[in-house]
Amino acid sequence: MYVLKYFIVTGTSRGLGKAITEQLIAKDHTIFCISRKQNNELKNLASSQGIPLYYFSCDLQKVEEVERVMEKIFTTIDFSSAEGIYLINNAGVIQPIKPIGKATSNEIATNVQVNLIAPMILSTYFIQYTSNINTVKMIINISSGAANRPSVGWATYCSSKSGLDMFTKAVSIEQENVANPAVVISFSPGIMDTDMQADIRQSDKDDFAELEKFVEFEQQGLLRSTETVAKILLNLVFNGLPVNGKIYDIKEMI
Ligand SMILES: NC(=O)c1ccc[n+]([C@@H]2O[C@H](COP(=O)([O-])OP(=O)(O)OC[C@H]3O[C@@H](n4cnc5c(N)ncnc54)[C@H](OP(=O)(O)O)[C@@H]3O)[C@@H](O)[C@H]2O)c1
Repeated sequence: MYVLKYFIVTGTSRGLGKAITEQLIAKDHTIFCISRKQNNELKNLASSQGIPLYYFSCDLQKVEEVERVMEKIFTTIDFSSAEGIYLINNAGVIQPIKPIGKATSNEIATNVQVNLIAPMILSTYFIQYTSNINTVKMIINISSGAANRPSVGWATYCSSKSGLDMFTKAVSIEQENVANPAVVISFSPGIMDTDMQADIRQSDKDDFAELEKFVEFEQQGLLRSTETVAKILLNLVFNGLPVNGKIYDIKEMI
């Protein structure tokens, strides 16, 4: 029988999400990309290879948009041919980089909506739509070292990523007791050379105590490329038998 793997990836316009998607463009894969901006390079690459890649311009802060996108995705998937269905919650925002007390309500809400609430909503639909499907199912939440390390000026980001790891752990034990369970993991990608790091380096030193350290990370060439990180993550997903509920850290994998 003809079998396919389906991937739903958020935050594909740039950074790690773009690199993951680039590496997923391969035979027998179907990819659903979610971000506000579309990435034409990815679209062209997929179409040149005849790989189905669907783009959804969606603001993950908007619950109704997320619901609509998931409905569309799951009416497109042919479950009878599905050998694996994967949700990669990668989209993230670092702002507000400033102490609580200076951050605005909108900045705090945006961060938590994109980093935590959207992955929760995407996961609930993923699990609901696939509950009767007996195939490999995986939810991969892209976390951060900040989930376990409080940092002055990053209270919102640390909290949303810490919440995401707890979400991974809590959903993973729910899945232990259902028919056709999904494997749920977190993956902490380490520091990478992306717009997010550029954003961090541009922050105000009065608002972010570790600014100098992050400037030095770049100067010393310590930021990993997104291609390297995507390769390590996808190797874990396809060859590493990921353990349900585990919080993986790239530092322990290289
Ligand atoms: N870079 C690092 O050093 C580092 C370290 C540890 C963890 N991480 C984590 O790794 C993941 C990827 O980070 P990155 O460095 O690749 O980030 P990035 O370069 O800043 O890209 C962020 C992605 O998220 C999407 N996004 C942001 N807000 C969105 C919204 N409201 N709706 C839909 N999509 C949205 C962006 O797309 P649009 O703007 O087009 O919507 C973009 O594709 C994040 O979860 C981040 O927290 C990064």
